[in-house]
Amino acid sequence: MDTSYYVPDKTEAWQNLKRYAQKQGVDVRHEFELDSERSRVFSVRTNELFLDYSKNLINSEIWTDLIALAENSPLQQMKNSMFSGKKINTSENRAVLHTLLRKNQASEIDELDKLLKKVKGQSQNIKKVSERIRSGLWLGVDGKPITDVVNIGIGGSDLGPRLACNALAEFRHPKINTHFVGNVDGAEILSTLNKLDPQRTLIIIASKTFKTQETLMNGNTAIKWLRQNLKIADPQKTDHLIAVTANPNNALEFGVNESNILQFSDWVGGRYSLWSSIGISIAISAGYDRFHEMLVGAQEMDEHFLTAPTGKSMPVALALLSIWYSSFLNLETHAVIPYCERLQLLPSYLQQLAMESNGKSVSRQGQPLDYATSPVIWGQTGTNGQHAFFQLLHQGSHTIPIDFIAACSDAMSTPKHHEALIGNMLAQGSALMLGQSASPSKMHQHYPGNNPSNTILIDKLSAKNFGALIALYEHKVFVEGCIWNINSFDQWGVELGKKMANNLISSEGSLPNLDASTRSLFAHQRARSGMY
Ligand code: F6P
Repeated sequence: MDTSYYVPDKTEAWQNLKRYAQKQGVDVRHEFELDSERSRVFSVRTNELFLDYSKNLINSEIWTDLIALAENSPLQQMKNSMFSGKKINTSENRAVLHTLLRKNQASEIDELDKLLKKVKGQSQNIKKVSERIRSGLWLGVDGKPITDVVNIGIGGSDLGPRLACNALAEFRHPKINTHFVGNVDGAEILSTLNKLDPQRTLIIIASKTFKTQETLMNGNTAIKWLRQNLKIADPQKTDHLIAVTANPNNALEFGVNESNILQFSDWVGGRYSLWSSIGISIAISAGYDRFHEMLVGAQEMDEHFLTAPTGKSMPVALALLSIWYSSFLNLETHAVIPYCERLQLLPSYLQQLAMESNGKSVSRQGQPLDYATSPVIWGQTGTNGQHAFFQLLHQGSHTIPIDFIAACSDAMSTPKHHEALIGNMLAQGSALMLGQSASPSKMHQHYPGNNPSNTILIDKLSAKNFGALIALYEHKVFVEGCIWNINSFDQWGVELGKKMANNLISSEGSLPNLDASTRSLFAHQRARSGMY
């Protein structure tokens, strides 16, 4: 297929789906009455992950056309291109090869095999450094082992490792604490550092570009803190500092010792970088073996994505449902509700993954799109969310598709707690679908029901299953991008704000082309602050 001629909304499947969407909608309760096998048909299992998508607003006709939509899109071709290292990130002329970071066998493609050897070398560095830190052999200037690691990074250089360190809390090193600082808000870095012993603290500056304003400012604050407390001139030249980057020259210029720079390649997108050296904090916290298991789980999901037929592919199923809701039923948001406190950051992580990848409205060829793309991703853990925003899910004026995610068993919990947790999740999914009618005088007790949801059950939250879960969502977002005909791998939308912030900070608010509202806000803040 020549992808330059692909226009999704001109395909027959798209037109059929548009017609279904205009007809009276699907009542999922009725669909269950018609088909007792529905939950078997609309479910898929891969290794230790099970997805039930039977509670969605689809019937077999809609599903057949959604599958046809995928099969008549450049998905297969793009998949081959991505895995074989073609430069599918066209606006940045780069390959997209995070899947290579978890590849466990030699590649048949020579070029990829060379890259793979480099990746294996980088993994060995992660292993070596993390094991020295974990075993107490990595020493501060006073000869003391490290007890606290502070990862300074933002976006993909923060969210992935932060989420993984929390998710893998079961395996946490008993004597080493991992902290994360992302925001340029000084209160965050200062309150983190102030509770630590500088002699036993390792700062990791994690930045793909090593140019990000927030990260460099926090990095400089941390270096100043080390300098003042350790009473040494160049703490950045000691083992109190590691840099992780795809731009080693900038890290060298920043003053980091070459031997303390862990590299990765620029074909790893920021939001896909937890599998790379950016994952060093995961290896320190949970151990290199767990980090490796995480990669194995992701690799198994890659295998599933590459080999499963369209109708049996878990990432494809999630993507098609998302496209159905966004582009056809005009549902603008999608909630992610993990019933696992250790996955508390999953909604934020998926927010970046989905919204930075597919929050776009021009095609790969630069043409405006006539259809809605990525929904707004939001959420928080259950059961907490039940006592906050579930009111709106049950009785509000929006229909919000939901992903419920839970582990079947949890070694960190008790059978009693886990039964309550899972009971709540299953009850919510069921209640949202079934609803409940009430008499006209008691309409405040009426639950319309028919709210769609997916349920993902993971056997247990092992490192391997966690890796598979993240790779599942990566591929979901990739499939969406292929069908929507979007370049999912750039993020030009964040540049304008960055540029304006830099101008504003250095200009003291006196920019000639600053809009009147912002100029007056700037002046108000300066006048009221008393900080400068
Ligand atoms: O501003 C967006 C972004 O470029 C993300 O894509 C990235 O994860 C984040 O900033 C941090 O970038 P870096 O790792 O280069 O500091």
